[in-house]
Amino acid sequence: MNWDELGLKIAKEIEKEVMPYFGKKEGAKIIGYSPSGDTTELIDRMSEDIVLKHLKPLNINIVSEEIGTINNNSEWTAIIDPIDGSFNFTTGFPCFGFCFAIFKNNKPYYGLTYEFLTKNIYEAYVGKGAFLNGEKIKVKKYIEKEAVISYYSNKNLNLIGKVRRARIMGAFGVEMAYVAKGALDAVFDIRPYVRTTDFASSYIICKEAGAIITDEKGHEFKFNLNTTDRYNMIVANDKKLLNIILEEI
Ligand code: IPD
Ligand code: CA
Ligand code: CA
Repeated sequence: MNWDELGLKIAKEIEKEVMPYFGKKEGAKIIGYSPSGDTTELIDRMSEDIVLKHLKPLNINIVSEEIGTINNNSEWTAIIDPIDGSFNFTTGFPCFGFCFAIFKNNKPYYGLTYEFLTKNIYEAYVGKGAFLNGEKIKVKKYIEKEAVISYYSNKNLNLIGKVRRARIMGAFGVEMAYVAKGALDAVFDIRPYVRTTDFASSYIICKEAGAIITDEKGHEFKFNLNTTDRYNMIVANDKKLLNIILEEI
């Protein structure tokens, strides 16, 4: 199976169907609840229906944000966030994407994160490096005064003075792809709130681009393939920046 071709095909079909709803309230109509308790909006359902149309006939396991887990006892598992950054999408804030990860025997295999507006394709097969539109990408070299971070915390953290810019973009999987390409030095969530569907594809891309990924204690990040567990997660381009974050949180 060409997972990259399939992932992009699904991404393009979602793009065609849902982009007309960009910045429009109709797309935010609540039509249900996901297994993790979040609302499912019209655009989430429309996107996931396209995902399921393509993946169900393959009889692989599917872990997708709105529907949860479909277990077919396959060696292959697809982990999907049909739209990461739904709130951004419906409010017209241009940061959202499609997250598509493939695991083989529960181990990372391939990740694709696609941004509908820029049409940027971030992807990685494990062991083969990370790519943006076919060009190899690496995390940015950390320079203290130039660092740009994004973070989600329930506490007031004293980090703004320690970096050049602090932002919260509202699409965690996309923000991780930004770390992989060097537009961000770090992104983290210590609420804890992110789920495997949010980060699975970009986890693979970030690892291949040389990012460090840990929990809130600085230990190697571990996760399960489901849609309900929520995590503390730190993704950084450099140990020095990771240590600054760990001291503050
Ligand atoms: C959300 C976004 C957001 C993050 C939340 C996620 P969704 O994903 O990634 O940045 O803070 O934790 O749930 O719900 O738009 O797919
Ligand atoms: Ca998400
Ligand atoms: Ca989503």
